[in-house]
Amino acid sequence: MSKYAELFNQLHKKQESFTLSPSLLSFLKNEVQPYLITHDIVLENCLEIGCGTQSLLEVWPILGNEISKTAVDCSLVAIKKAKTHFPQSEVSYIVADIANNELLSFPSGALRDLVPQDIILDGHALHFIKDKSDRAIAFKNIYNLLRADGVFVAESTIRTNSFQASDSFHLPYAHELEDEILKAGFEIKIFIVKPGLHLESYEDGVVERFEVVTFIARKK
Ligand SMILES: C[S@@+](CC[C@H](N)C(=O)[O-])C[C@H]1O[C@@H](n2cnc3c(N)ncnc32)[C@H](O)[C@@H]1O
Repeated sequence: MSKYAELFNQLHKKQESFTLSPSLLSFLKNEVQPYLITHDIVLENCLEIGCGTQSLLEVWPILGNEISKTAVDCSLVAIKKAKTHFPQSEVSYIVADIANNELLSFPSGALRDLVPQDIILDGHALHFIKDKSDRAIAFKNIYNLLRADGVFVAESTIRTNSFQASDSFHLPYAHELEDEILKAGFEIKIFIVKPGLHLESYEDGVVERFEVVTFIARKK
């Protein structure tokens, strides 16, 4: 079991329920949706990483029945809860660690059969992956899961000079996050720094003030 699975299994056991993040929902509605419409991007396959106990794909209104929807999380506990809450769901829930090097390998990679996806959403998993090399693997997996021109969208915490550091989240400077995205082979289409967003720290439930970036990246 990966270190992320171990940690998040413990956290998901303790947590009774999750509400979907309001900032992620507004990001999808106000930034991702207009981008998809403006660029005539038709979705047939859609994947969320870090869905927890409820996928954003359950509630995103632009996704019709004909679209294939998959949500993954490293925590078996979370995926079991999601399947119990949504027994009739059109979303396929799968246990997978996005930072696993073997994720797309032949023949046993857990997400091998999902290639190629049109869009991948980060459901706030990325900023919990703290190790640099794990993050590079996660970005590479996301890149390889997408079709050419496929889109990766995320809201992720960043460090600023005025920031009170917290241990819960990975906090690169904005330019370091930008480098990670470009290094994986993406083209950055939108990259917005948002000061003063409030997010709940996962481990102790404390609401902290974070600076975040929302970005839309496209596979070249
Ligand atoms: C803050 S929760 C967000 C849950 C849900 N998307 C929401 O908006 O309520 C982050 C999720 O990312 C998952 N996660 C963390 N690291 C991961 C990894 N390496 N691979 C896949 N999922 C991961 C955790 O298990 C957790 O469920």
